[in-house]
Amino acid sequence: MSGTLCIDGIAVPFSDGQTIIEAARSAGVYIPYLCHRPGYAPYGSCKLCTVKVNGRTNTACTLPAADGQTVISNSPDLQHDRQRITQMLFVEGNHFCPSCEKSGNCQLQAVAYHQNMLDNHYPHFYAQRELDASHPDILIDHDRCIFCNLCVRASKEKDGKEVFGIAGRGIHKRLIVNSPTGKLKDSDISVNDEAAHVCPTGAILVKRSAYLAPIGARIYDHHPISEVACEKEVIKAGEASGYPSCDQTKLAQNGGPDSHYAATMPPAPDIKHDR
Ligand code: SF4
Ligand code: FES
Repeated sequence: MSGTLCIDGIAVPFSDGQTIIEAARSAGVYIPYLCHRPGYAPYGSCKLCTVKVNGRTNTACTLPAADGQTVISNSPDLQHDRQRITQMLFVEGNHFCPSCEKSGNCQLQAVAYHQNMLDNHYPHFYAQRELDASHPDILIDHDRCIFCNLCVRASKEKDGKEVFGIAGRGIHKRLIVNSPTGKLKDSDISVNDEAAHVCPTGAILVKRSAYLAPIGARIYDHHPISEVACEKEVIKAGEASGYPSCDQTKLAQNGGPDSHYAATMPPAPDIKHDR
């Protein structure tokens, strides 16, 4: 099935099998995410991509796009919730960006900038999970894990292995390694595996690659995550891509985008939904 949905006032076409977040990305509309990754099966754990769809709360990375949906992403309450989720992720682990090799290439850091996160809001947990530097080529700093499950999915679905798993709940949740000792050196992982490169934070790092790209020359040093996530050729929602606006009455009924976003939206041509 294909059709058109309305995201924050932009009429966005979708094709068969696309989720809301995939349709949005294709149209240059950025919906923040961390546990989602293009080409991976939906997982839906971080809740950062939470949107309102026809007035109801849903995760954009798991909900299939459907014709006539009215999606609100950029409203003050959703942005506030995203900032709080990001702050929780920061205090649950150890994300001290100035001392992290991933700084500038880190999606968590880039999302925090996008959310205008200026403090942690919550008290720190001061996580102290054991670092695994046993493997000759790959390092795991468990204190930087946000449990997005991407390495688990990468190892299983892309590498045909099952090196990683997530065990426990709440503050006892842990990334575990499938090996006789629980150490990475005794697992099947190779530095060429996708699982070694997919981590959105600095939890899984490849050894001897630190500072090959110096601070200041990294991806988010020059491009906000809203651009990077939507690919280079489509920079501004509804502008470079030429997507028209959709019915503003329905948008208002469903909570509406915030006023700043509304002010930057392209002028509204006549486009009508079936419902
Ligand atoms: S190690 Fe990285 S990729 Fe794996 S679950 Fe933790 S944050 Fe996600
Ligand atoms: S990106 Fe949708 S729940 Fe994580």
